[in-house]
Amino acid sequence: MAEMRIDILTLFPGTVDAVLHESILGRAARKGILDIRCWQIRDYTENRQCQVDDYPYGGGFGCVMMAQPLKACLDAATAGSGDLRRRVIYLSPQGRPFTQATARRLRQDYDQLVLVCGHYEGVDERFIEACVDEEISLGDFVLTGGEIAAMAVADAVCRLVPGVLSDPQCYIGESHWDGLLEYPQYTRPETWEGRAVPEVLLNGDHEKVGRWRRLRQFERTRDKRPDLFRAFEPATDEDRALLKELRRAEKKKRLTDPVTCRPAGEEDLPCLLQIREEARRSLARHGVDQWQGTYPAEEDFRREIAAGECFLVLHGGETAAFFTLSVNPEPGYDGIRDGRWSEPPSYAVLRHAAVAAAYRGSGLAEALLRLAEDRTRALGRRSIRTATHRKNKPALRLLRETGYRYRGNADLDTEPGHDPARQCYEKLLKEKKQ
Ligand SMILES: C[S@@+](CC[C@H](N)C(=O)[O-])C[C@H]1O[C@@H](n2cnc3c(N)ncnc32)[C@H](O)[C@@H]1O
Repeated sequence: MAEMRIDILTLFPGTVDAVLHESILGRAARKGILDIRCWQIRDYTENRQCQVDDYPYGGGFGCVMMAQPLKACLDAATAGSGDLRRRVIYLSPQGRPFTQATARRLRQDYDQLVLVCGHYEGVDERFIEACVDEEISLGDFVLTGGEIAAMAVADAVCRLVPGVLSDPQCYIGESHWDGLLEYPQYTRPETWEGRAVPEVLLNGDHEKVGRWRRLRQFERTRDKRPDLFRAFEPATDEDRALLKELRRAEKKKRLTDPVTCRPAGEEDLPCLLQIREEARRSLARHGVDQWQGTYPAEEDFRREIAAGECFLVLHGGETAAFFTLSVNPEPGYDGIRDGRWSEPPSYAVLRHAAVAAAYRGSGLAEALLRLAEDRTRALGRRSIRTATHRKNKPALRLLRETGYRYRGNADLDTEPGHDPARQCYEKLLKEKKQ
């Protein structure tokens, strides 16, 4: 006997049959794990025209499906399956919304699901009262018939039946399994169109991978489905600790101490990469195609550290941001369009900069620019030039508000495969009064 039996009562058995007997469910049915049967309601009418619907009492538009053929079809579908733990479900926009928890309950508590698909204006209420155990909705919208909803319910329940998927791990931990969304997934190649797989997934350290994935689950549930995140209750010490870590990182910092900077060393690389990662995710969330590939990569940081061009911004001893400042001309700036740089070209390049997530909105970015300008003066340069993506609105606003002037547009080839268009900004520096 099959592990799970699904009977679908419908006016369109061909459609449902074709879908549910394909692919993974079809394979499981052929192995005898699932028994999926579709029943044509029209075959159970008692009138010569095989009529299944009629006008509604009291008037109104459309037709209503009659109780008699539905009941006769249900009797046929349930005949001889007396011992099975059975649930008769009417797919309806008035039912309880279908969730993963519903799928798990139906899988655990029943051996046979009878899914009744309505059509037209719905079904005679007396059939629902007399025969239906539960009404399930696919969501708060109205479909023309219950078939799509029935297929969705059958699919979600059947993939939880042992043997249907190759391993229970395939569904344990997926979105909605424990109230969270799944972490981001990647497959080969390692870099696709300039977008790299996160480094942590490549180093074979399963503990680190597990931690990274769980943190990403928390973050994306918080960002995409705040309702689920609010309802989530951590059940393990590990989850509680990770959530605490996330909240600590989220807690917005205020600038209470002086902000200073110092040249970065190799030992600061993990911190630099962490801030870069936070900035990368924030840019992605805002739809900015900047830093979405490998750039600035670990090798870029190493080179800049060796050249003395990379600086950490510190607040109360804590690393809060970084910037790289170079006196080497940026070749990409020479191709400026729609404007020009100032004369003379005695400038330093603010190549990249990022603020740790916890410090966003604290005024640290403004302090970072002041520090970069002080360094530029100390290097004997008279202006500071930088460029950012045209959609990076926070950076553009910051530059404009801190005295940087728009000079034109340029294409930078630092991030192959990504939008190279940058807006160029420059600030002419006055001597500082002592
Ligand atoms: C046009 S609908 C009838 C809607 C009905 N007059 C009402 O307002 O509640 C026809 C059939 O589609 C199915 N259906 C429509 N929307 C659905 C949903 N959101 N979830 C599940 N089934 C739905 C039901 O089986 C229903 O009987």
